[in-house]
Amino acid sequence: MSTRKRLEELRSQRWFAANDLRSFGHRSRALQMGYGREEFLGKPVVAIINTWSDINPCHVHLRDRTEAVKRGVWQAGGFPIELPALSLAETYVKPTTMLYRNFLAMEVEELLRSHPVDGVVLLGGCDKTTPGLLMGAISMNLPAIFLPAGPMLRGNYRGSYLGSGTDVWKYWADRQAGEITEGQWQEMEEGIARSFGTCMTMGTASTMTALAETLGFCLPGASSIPAADSNHTRMAAACGRQILRMIWEDVKPSDILSRAAFENAMTVLFAMAGSTNAMIHLIALARRSGVPLTLRDLDETAARVPVLVNCRPAGAYLMEDFYYAGGLPALWSELRELLRGEARTVAGPSIGEIAAGAQVCNADVIRSLDNPVSGADGLAVLYGNLAPDGCVMKPAAADPRLRRHTGPALVFDDYQHMKDEIDREDLEVTPDHVLVLRNVGPLGGPGMPEWGMLPIPKKLLKRGVRDMLRISDARMSGTSYGACILHVAPEAFVGGPLALVRTGDIISVDVEARTLSVDLTEAELERRRAEWTSPKKRYQRGYGWLAARHMLQADQGCDFDFLETAFGDPVDEPAIF
Ligand code: FES
Repeated sequence: MSTRKRLEELRSQRWFAANDLRSFGHRSRALQMGYGREEFLGKPVVAIINTWSDINPCHVHLRDRTEAVKRGVWQAGGFPIELPALSLAETYVKPTTMLYRNFLAMEVEELLRSHPVDGVVLLGGCDKTTPGLLMGAISMNLPAIFLPAGPMLRGNYRGSYLGSGTDVWKYWADRQAGEITEGQWQEMEEGIARSFGTCMTMGTASTMTALAETLGFCLPGASSIPAADSNHTRMAAACGRQILRMIWEDVKPSDILSRAAFENAMTVLFAMAGSTNAMIHLIALARRSGVPLTLRDLDETAARVPVLVNCRPAGAYLMEDFYYAGGLPALWSELRELLRGEARTVAGPSIGEIAAGAQVCNADVIRSLDNPVSGADGLAVLYGNLAPDGCVMKPAAADPRLRRHTGPALVFDDYQHMKDEIDREDLEVTPDHVLVLRNVGPLGGPGMPEWGMLPIPKKLLKRGVRDMLRISDARMSGTSYGACILHVAPEAFVGGPLALVRTGDIISVDVEARTLSVDLTEAELERRRAEWTSPKKRYQRGYGWLAARHMLQADQGCDFDFLETAFGDPVDEPAIF
């Protein structure tokens, strides 16, 4: 049963209510900004964390949405304050936004801790933004609601739809093989991204926003609304109103993030054939929440949840179609027997109650358990002497012949090495080779860039080869596909077995048996390990230096060790005045 908070219990009142010198300063400075006393005194203060920037096409509408959120906050009797935060534009930030996910998480936590804030509306959606925002909010544990940025409209090219990322990879391979002209390529460039918003395939952005909603952080259906739809603006205002209810009823992340919530998130992840990146983020979110969650949990869930969402890259449609088909609540309604309906949401009703009121409007886009897009084949976690702590693969996205494969390794020591070699006409490579890219993991990258979908060598592309077995300690884009084995842990940079493989060694993968191994004796691996020396760290100072010392391995979620819930005593609240 919820209890209503009293005004004097709100954090913000420490700044504004006291009759002392410091509060005089806080009040006089609010008055300085043109607010009347009646506008900010005696009201909850709502932070709006905005990840807008001029170079983030996925978030470029968030200044407008912030105004709508403010409207909702004012309507419900709150005082809104916009706090800008790091904007992680997946396409522009190098070497990878993943390097900065923890930076954003830390920034969110500290913005909330240091300001007079009673609750927060989080705005974002481009890949690493969603986990970054949620991780910070979980650690701070103030009432928090998430407004996903929303997917962009469908891409168009000569009468057919183009999907972010997925169709780029597909047509790029055709272009490399000489099957697409420069003019056609330019037409695609002009047609693929038609509006603001996040990638409209079931890539990392759409996966993570759907998982945020499934974890209970959103109002029903919020993650499916296209960014350019007027419903999105109305949803923003509704979030502004809802956060006031949450503040008064003291609904915090710790109240919704149960084991049941994470089990539901895993189920939805595989029913959507979602991004492999989400596995890292889910583990990080769970660890922040104090809920144990491992790769084995993910593998076990993947083995029993069929793919119901028919969206690219695993299916045919795009996020706009998913929205028209009923969006996430409609998917929950089809998954009801696999979900734990008692899990709470910030909206008030449980997942089960929301699902009961939802309906699928297009049974080809959101399939039923009786008629899935594909079986429970969305993900496999493999172990073996090449990945003692695990690695992941999307079998459904791979050429079936590569599910069980043995071939010689062709090893690249880093990304530049691969780039220099991969398209050489005299490269000794066959379709049976296993391409290996290493030193691109959490500490080696650093930040695990999305380099795991290694390009097929040009000479093989021209022969019609479109898939090969590829192994790395990197990640890959959620919009990618192919027989790519990713997230190998421990990574090569810290001396994981991937560091010891040489070109010509025989590598075997068996998806059904969940194994990945190199045909070397333990004695030989030990001999090579004794000769191995750690590569030089890429960043010798600054944030990259910090990340390369504190980022955890992929199987542990890539959080910084010192940000995890279990690290050290909780930070003292209230803030020191
Ligand atoms: Fe932002 Fe894909 S680039 S969501």
